[in-house]
Amino acid sequence: MKKILITGGAGFIGSHVVKLFVNKYVDYHVFNLDKLTYAGNLENLKSIENSPNYTFIKGDITDGLFISQLFENQQFDGVIHLAAESHVDRSIADPMAFIHTNIVGTANLLNAALKIWEGHFEGKLFYHISTDEVYGSLGENDAAFTEQTPYCPHSPYSASKAASDHLVRAYYDTYGLPTVISNCSNNYGPYQFPEKLLPLCINNILNNKPLPVYGKGLNVRDWLYVKDHADAIDCVFHAGEKGQTYNIGGNNEWRNIDLIEKLIEITDNQLNRPKGTSQKLITFVKDRAGHDLRYAINAKKIHTQLGWCPKVAFDEGFALTVKWYLDNSDWLKNVTTGEYQNYYNKMYLERK
Ligand code: NAD
Ligand code: DAU
Repeated sequence: MKKILITGGAGFIGSHVVKLFVNKYVDYHVFNLDKLTYAGNLENLKSIENSPNYTFIKGDITDGLFISQLFENQQFDGVIHLAAESHVDRSIADPMAFIHTNIVGTANLLNAALKIWEGHFEGKLFYHISTDEVYGSLGENDAAFTEQTPYCPHSPYSASKAASDHLVRAYYDTYGLPTVISNCSNNYGPYQFPEKLLPLCINNILNNKPLPVYGKGLNVRDWLYVKDHADAIDCVFHAGEKGQTYNIGGNNEWRNIDLIEKLIEITDNQLNRPKGTSQKLITFVKDRAGHDLRYAINAKKIHTQLGWCPKVAFDEGFALTVKWYLDNSDWLKNVTTGEYQNYYNKMYLERK
């Protein structure tokens, strides 16, 4: 049985990747290593938590000794590294947490993998999950980011992710560690922490609270359904060429204000409220410092070389997402009250 370590598997994207791998690859044993920060939620993994090919490990990637012992003990064959501090606004308020987890944490994992695999790289892979934000910001008419676009990060979050990408490449170039990187655009879908734009606004529409739009709402993001990202990760993990980088995106650019208006229309409709009810909740607020104007992804490489493209049409994914949050108000409630943080104690400690 191959042993695959997925870091950050209790988070938004990681939980989709863990569920995909546990269900699809019964000949893999999936280890989910997660610190369970505010963003980690084991309730996201209920459907697979008792699967025989799944193990949860609570741990911190910034703890170098713990990480090296874990790798020595388990002798993982592959690593899919998603654990990170992921929210741009938090990185502006507290950059050091991002520097520790995203840079030092990634370096600890690289060192541990190198130590157990050195001289035996055949069949091994260190896969680093990154973001389109490392490329910086595009003007309105600029061509989309390609894998050759020079790095130009602006926020502490994107700078820390850029640093981790550079480290991963350096370990490939210097030591021959088998690595691959992908850089993805904004994900949306079930289980996203309601600090991010879409779940925050859905929750606020439900509770008749203001929808905070930064600046004039003219910033543009490319949106991809999270399960399409998980499929892309599966594809790169199994078919990606070592040492390469793959951009992943939805070819689906939206100005924030237009996206919020669409969200209002769909959410009001699903709540059986008259059209336009929540329009009054839109509230323009102070812009994010250093707010990147536009991200857009050219995903031709992964499409032509590995055959991946998004399967979920935006209208379908968007309606499914709104429905999921409305149908899962308990999940939203547990997250907003903090109750979800007791799940680890209930599930793993009290049972022992
Ligand atoms: P998230 O914040 O929802 O989840 C991050 C997970 O990492 C959480 O479960 C958290 O507990 C865990 N974690 C944080 N610090 C840790 C540490 N020190 N040790 C162990 N675990 C730790 O993030 P997400 O949105 O799912 O993003 C996952 C990855 O994908 C990140 O690397 C992010 O940079 C990247 N990414 C995200 C998006 C997006 O739109 N969300 C897009 C492109 C790339
Ligand atoms: O592009 C990929 C990145 O997408 C990932 O690497 C990050 O981990 C992820 O958080 C996301 O970053 P963004 O900053 O783009 O996502 P966020 O949901 O925070 O914001 C989306 C856009 O909406 C952005 O232009 C800022 C704006 N915004 C955000 C919030 C939270 C608002 O206008 N109001 C808000 O309240």
